[in-house]
Amino acid sequence: MDLSIVYANVHFPNPIVLASGILGVTGNSLKNVIENGAGGVTTKSIWLEEHLGHPNPTMMGNEHFFVNAVGLPDAGIEKAKDEIGTYMNWYNSQDKKAPLIASIVAGKISDFAEIAEKIAELKPHAIEVNISCPNVEDELGKPFACDRDQAAEVTKIVKKRTNGEYPIVVKLSPNVNNLTEIAKAVEAAGADGITAFNTFGPGMVIDIETAQPVLANKVGGVSGPGLKPLVVKGIFDLYEAVKIPIIGTGSVLTGRDAIELMMAGATLVGVGTAVYYRGNDVFGKIAQEMEEWCDENDVKDMSEIVGRSHRV
Ligand SMILES: Cc1cc2nc3c(=O)[nH]c(=O)nc-3n(C[C@H](O)[C@H](O)[C@H](O)COP(=O)(O)O)c2cc1C
Repeated sequence: MDLSIVYANVHFPNPIVLASGILGVTGNSLKNVIENGAGGVTTKSIWLEEHLGHPNPTMMGNEHFFVNAVGLPDAGIEKAKDEIGTYMNWYNSQDKKAPLIASIVAGKISDFAEIAEKIAELKPHAIEVNISCPNVEDELGKPFACDRDQAAEVTKIVKKRTNGEYPIVVKLSPNVNNLTEIAKAVEAAGADGITAFNTFGPGMVIDIETAQPVLANKVGGVSGPGLKPLVVKGIFDLYEAVKIPIIGTGSVLTGRDAIELMMAGATLVGVGTAVYYRGNDVFGKIAQEMEEWCDENDVKDMSEIVGRSHRV
């Protein structure tokens, strides 16, 4: 069946998109993600200037959870121009029209304005505004996504500096107790969509043999399959609170997981950590599993399952 779906007026061949920060480093790796079955890609978060991440070890996972303190390493916008250019040239040269979402990040609101303007010159299909990374708090303080007014201010400035020409998707944090208030504020500030969520926490894992935290940074953002009920509940609440569409991201390993997030209210489904559990071709595997479930359950169009749990 045709798995295509429209998100913020952008057409995606299927709802599975690469989440930011995983595999999205070079134009060629983004292209490989599409060849491995994704319906779209999100770049890793791009800074104005080069940004060093945290020292190793930066990641650790088991069958229940995954922690990372990669720390948003990036070569900066000048290098990203080449990589996004490579992807866009490929996009224009063939028929698999899988959109590119450019993720931007900054430590100051004024830097968000500048990076937004520069990224818009590259004509991505949408811009994701990362205001929610929990593992750079030592450097940047509490993420803007944890404060309603700051989240709205970043949204407004990014929307303004891109002249309203690109869908602006604001990536929210699950680590707040006023999630729907924050979502309403970014919607009112001009966001065209939201991504729910970035990683949880930060959390910590201790090696009991050495009594030391496993990550060099000591703490890291938490993802992985055990978080799914929290992600589903967050998306469910957001769907009732705002009209703008949601990229449901977090804990998805299988087609059934993706369908669950869509029934809660997601239009697209971001997939990141699943690469560590099921390999680089996880995108196509999940899309295939979704297709099989839809065929068995007489779903004719993917939009039928978006928010289905709110209509029963
Ligand atoms: C290794 C790693 C690096 C990440 N880097 C970024 C990043 O650069 N920007 C961002 O917005 N989110 C980043 N994230 C968060 C993911 O995009 C995603 O929101 C989160 O991991 C939940 O989805 P998942 O369970 O499918 O991984 C990163 C996550 C991981 C595991």
